[in-house]
Amino acid sequence: MKKLVITLLCVLLPTIAVADIKVDYDSHGQMISQEAPIDIFDRGSVKRGAKHFIDYCVSCHSAKFMRFNRIAKDTGMSDAELRDSLIFTRDAKGKPTKTGDLIVVAMTDEYAIQAFGTRVPDLSLTARARGADWMYTYLRTFYVDPYRPTGMNNAQFADVAMPHVLQSLQGTQKAVYVTEEHDGVTVEHLDRLEMIQPGSMSEKEYDAFVTDLVNFMVYLAEPVQVERVNMGWKVLLFIMIFFVFAYMLKKEYWRDVH
Ligand code: HEC
Repeated sequence: MKKLVITLLCVLLPTIAVADIKVDYDSHGQMISQEAPIDIFDRGSVKRGAKHFIDYCVSCHSAKFMRFNRIAKDTGMSDAELRDSLIFTRDAKGKPTKTGDLIVVAMTDEYAIQAFGTRVPDLSLTARARGADWMYTYLRTFYVDPYRPTGMNNAQFADVAMPHVLQSLQGTQKAVYVTEEHDGVTVEHLDRLEMIQPGSMSEKEYDAFVTDLVNFMVYLAEPVQVERVNMGWKVLLFIMIFFVFAYMLKKEYWRDVH
């Protein structure tokens, strides 16, 4: 019996490690993040997200652990498509960015501190640090706040220094607060965000846009993820088949003893 337990542990422990695809979920702030309906196996969505990321985010943020041609390879883009849709920059010497270059930005930390009062973080690993749900909620919960330097605040990331760069697409939301009594103390908290000026996209379109963007950022944080999960299933299958033979062999060895 003891041997059977040890055999089972030896077989099961590695499977637990391989099958682990969980992303880190952050519980910062009082707001519970809404679930991001992403699908890392949807290469079309990752490809669209890459385009959104280049169009709207890399003017400030780098993704310096990723190369342009790696995205092309993983999403099935040709070199010409890559040049047309993702590469619009030149390097410090004025030469066009190469397909094998890393995704860097021209903005220095000194400039960012002057402009935003803080450094602009690299986004390569943000999906792992914050989690997909956090980013999905963050990109949808900017609201007007005249007390902030950018005129906007964020429900997920209070007093954020980033401007709402997707405002023309999403529109402008305002915060609605409610007051509640707790043990004789009146507390005010954010209840909901209301759209006061619609953007160029409908709510559904904007949510789909953000989903693609977050899907891309989840891919960005771990490009081998899809391969790892696919490989995990094969390894699990192998271990299950191997277990049967290992168990039969064990039975055979111990037949004369028991
Ligand atoms: C105009 C410059 C600018 C652009 C464009 C921009 N950001 Fe930001 N972003 C910032 C700054 C500045 C911060 C730091 C905010 C802070 O620390 O208060 C930030 C922070 C963030 C964070 C939080 C990172 C963390 O873990 O703290 C995320 C996520 C993010 N940006 C995503 C995006 C995405 C996605 C886009 C493209 C849609 C984008 N940003 C475009 C300036 C920008």
